[in-house]
Amino acid sequence: MVVDWQGLRQAATSAAARAYAPYSRLQVGAAGLAADGTVVVGCNVENASFGLTLCAECGLVSALHAAGAGRLVACSVVAADGLPLVPCGRCRQLLLEAGGPDLLLDAQDGPTRLGELLPAAFTGEDLADRRDTHA
Ligand code: THU
Repeated sequence: MVVDWQGLRQAATSAAARAYAPYSRLQVGAAGLAADGTVVVGCNVENASFGLTLCAECGLVSALHAAGAGRLVACSVVAADGLPLVPCGRCRQLLLEAGGPDLLLDAQDGPTRLGELLPAAFTGEDLADRRDTHA
């Protein structure tokens, strides 16, 4: 599947401009290409109760499911300056479940596989393998 990285980064930058981040003042936008060709976006949403903050990737993954667009194939996460931002650890885990280790992430030096950023990840398979069957 051909990825329009410039278009994805632009969509992420537009989303970042609409972020609600009055506390950190770090506006983040995320744009993802889904398997059916749909582009979904998200932005971070902060709260006066700081721990409730939603990262841009949370909105993106929600939009992906709401659109029924299939797996995530490629993703660009940027700050308001339009340059790539590395997803936080929690969001790497979220993106992994949405796109798997082959999901491509926009980066300064070119697309990077998510599997490189989150090796040896905990997944639903670990859950199935290790669940207590005696309880
Ligand atoms: N943030 C994201 O939206 N995604 C990330 O992967 C890293 C951090 C947001 C959360 C918070 O609103 C602000 O950036 C500062 O941490």
